This record gives sequence, C-alpha cells and structure tokens, in this order.
Amino acid sequence: MRLSVIGCGYVGLVTGSCLAELGHSVVCFDNDAAKAQMLREGHMPIYEPHLEELFLRNRQEGRLSLATEAGEAVRNADAIFICVGTPPLENGDADLSAIDRVARLIATESRSPKLVVEKSTVPVRTGQELKRALAVYGRNSGARFRVASNPEFLREGTGVEDFLHPDRIVVGVEDAETERQLREIYQPVLDGKFNCPVHPAGCQVTTEPSFVVTTIASSELIKHASNSFLALKISYANALAALCERLGANVEEVTRAMGLDPRIGPHFLRAGLGFGGFCFPKDIQAFIRLAERVGVDFRLLKEAEAINNRQIDLFVEKVRHALWVIRDKRVALFGLAFKPYTDDVRFSPAIKLAQRLVAEGAHVHAYDPKAMEKARAVLSEVVYEADPYAAARQADALIVATEWPEFTNLDWEKIRAEMARPLLMDGRNLFNPKEIRALGFEYESVGRPDGDSVGLVS
Ligand code: UDX
Repeated sequence: MRLSVIGCGYVGLVTGSCLAELGHSVVCFDNDAAKAQMLREGHMPIYEPHLEELFLRNRQEGRLSLATEAGEAVRNADAIFICVGTPPLENGDADLSAIDRVARLIATESRSPKLVVEKSTVPVRTGQELKRALAVYGRNSGARFRVASNPEFLREGTGVEDFLHPDRIVVGVEDAETERQLREIYQPVLDGKFNCPVHPAGCQVTTEPSFVVTTIASSELIKHASNSFLALKISYANALAALCERLGANVEEVTRAMGLDPRIGPHFLRAGLGFGGFCFPKDIQAFIRLAERVGVDFRLLKEAEAINNRQIDLFVEKVRHALWVIRDKRVALFGLAFKPYTDDVRFSPAIKLAQRLVAEGAHVHAYDPKAMEKARAVLSEVVYEADPYAAARQADALIVATEWPEFTNLDWEKIRAEMARPLLMDGRNLFNPKEIRALGFEYESVGRPDGDSVGLVS
C-alpha cells in the first residue's frame, strides 16, 4: 500500500520505518527543513534502538523515501498517518495547531480519496474536528476523506519492538472499508510475518496482538485512559514510598508482592523520582482538562500529577537533609534522560532535579550515556563530564536520577575514591543497599528506610 507519514519525530520515524519494513511504500515528511535534511543525509535526529538500521535499510531498498515538499507526501498516498506533535499549551490543553495545519495541507493537496489516520495523541473529538476541517479546507479539491484513529503505544527506547510486537492494535473507524484498509496495513504484524529487526537471530515472540475495532471517540479515549492509568500506578507507588519511609517498611517489597496479584500486575509500580517524558505529563494534563470541559472533575488524576510533582520536592528535601547546606556543594548527577535507553530529556525528572539543585547554589557535574547533547540545550548551568568517574570527582554527593542499568556495572570502589564524601542518593532505587553500603557508601534511596531490600538491578 502507498502510505505517507507526516511528522518525523519519535512516533513518525518509528511508524514510517516499521510500515516500510512491513513491505509498504512509505513517504515521510517533516516541515522542519533542518531535520528533513539531516534525515536525507542518513542521520537520525534521535536515538532509538534499531531505528537507524531500519530507516537506512528501507531507504536503500526503496520502500522508504523523504518528500522534498509537503504535497509529495499527500498526492500519491492511499493512507496518511498524522504523527505531528501535540505539545501542552500553558493551560494544559493539547496544542492541536500542527494537526490543523496538516489537515489543511492534506485537504488542499489531495486529488484522490484518502484515509487520514490520527496517530498523534489527541483529545477525544479531535477525529470529528479533523473530519470537519478536511471537508472545509478541501471543499474545492473534490477529494473524499475518511478519518480513523490509530493511537500509538510506543515506549521510547523500545519503540520499534512495540510497533512490531504490540499487545493490541486499536483502530477507531466509522466504516467497514476503513477497518479493512487498516487491517491490511497491519496484517504482517497480526500474522507475525516480517523479518524481526529486534530479534535478528530468530524471533521468539508468539503472542498474537489483538486487533481492536472501536468508534473513533473510544479509540481516542483508550490512549489517554491507558497513559493516565499507568501514571496513576506510578504515583500510587510513590505515595506508598512516602508512607514506607515514615513507617519503616520497604516499598520494593510491598510493590513486588502486590504485583504478584494478576489483577494488579508487576509493571509501573516502581517508586522513584516520578514519571517524565513527553507523553505522561502532557497526556495526564490534557485528560484532566478534557474531563473538566465536559463537567467531570477527574480529581484522581490531579492527585496523581500532584504526587508526581512532589517527588522532586521530597528528594531535594532529602538532599538538603543529607548535605545540610546545598549551596556550593559539588553534586554528581548520573542520568539526565527521562528514562534509560533514550536521549530524550523532555519533562525529565532528572533535569527538573538538576535545575532545583543549581537554583539552590550546588555545582552540578552531570553524566548520561546518551542524553548529554540534548540536555545541554535546555540546561546550561551544569558541567557535562565525558565519563562518570570525572563527574564523581570531588563530589559531596552523587545522585542517580535515571535508571540506566549500566550504572550498576561501573567500578564503584573507584567512584567512592574519587568523591569528597561517598554519599550516594539513589533516586531510582537502582542499587542493592546492602551491597553498596558494603563498599563504604552512605546510601539513601526512595521508600526503603531500612535499606535492606534488593535493588532494581542486582
Ligand atoms: C509512554 C507509554 O508507555 C506509551 O505506551 C505511550 O505511547 C507513550 O508514553 P514513554 O513516554 O516512552 O511511553 O515512557 P514510559 O516507559 O512509559 O515511562 C514513563 C516515565 O515513567 C519514565 O520517566 C519512567 O522512568 C517512569 N516510570 C515508569 C516510573 O517512575 N516508575 C515505573 O514503574 C515505570
């Protein structure tokens, strides 16, 4: 099928490259000329495992191309996937201006029927507005448009894997023809018939994804409802962590046992500095606003958001307690990305924490395996070190803010020797308290006051 993808961010690049890998002919377009040029030269603007290989190979084999002008991405496509950003406005609403711009572009450039698929995360009823916009902007084009919602459930860092091995593919449609077309697009995923780039030695994944067909409104809601529920789970674990600290219990032990109940499940119950990234914080806010607008006070979500914001305050308090005075202390910060295996620092708790420490007068020396370049653009007041040992040098405290597993493989005796005071403050419960204390560290983590439990990676 001839497909096009508009927007070459995380979602667009993963979607475009994976759709090409499934055998479709895909044209990608981004209106950021610098980004488009970078891609044309074969450079990825983001780090995402397997993406570069997939993108380059599919370009080379002729299934994936980059449009030089917007119309090229529209005219020849049977279906167009909208993957543009929907960042938060000041008031928390999703900014839909990029979607509106794309609607105008599609409507004015189309000369034949198109299926327009919203993949970007959008508030419920965007599909209706999109349909209206296409009709209004395209009134002179004569083209017929069908609209569908097909939310992405791609985690950064495992985006390619999530696309090719999803739990479910959700499509919100209004007619049987659209359902058929989307089923055809995803058939190789449903049948597991593609060369899996994630498991080149032989893919063992046997679970068949569910193909869920709903109305457009339900499909839009499923995305916001899923992300908000996951955010809720994290905040629940963080609220428990605060309680554990007061009561002498251990949050890892509590959540591990809770997670064994299949009704609860083990995932997204990790206490720490809270959730960040470009999805959860904005999606939860947009969902709260959406509910407000239709007269529903979704207080539960407001509380989840408040708990998340409080995690940074509580941690800064902990640092202050440990250091007494923060001003002029040298602090090593391990981790800047909002989670491991990504270079994304948008709404990263690690960045928020660094900003707070800098504001209080600390000298922050940071290290992250992938995110330093992106961090530099938003946080100029810290010193970026080429390796973790240099970051630890002469530090009065070392803070782990992102749970990169490779941090556990460092030579921690050497790090201790580099530090002015061997104080390790683990914002992600990455370490086994007993083991790290045995190396001579003073150790603090989140929700583990007695410090005797196992770490996340041990
Ligand atoms: C998320 C959704 O998982 C994905 O389905 C959606 O399409 C996009 O948003 P992503 O933003 O990549 O994906 O991040 P995710 O892996 O979900 O993690 C979000 C944040 O929660 C991270 O900052 C992570 O460190 C934090 N987190 C996660 C916790 O603090 N505790 C946990 O137990 C799990």
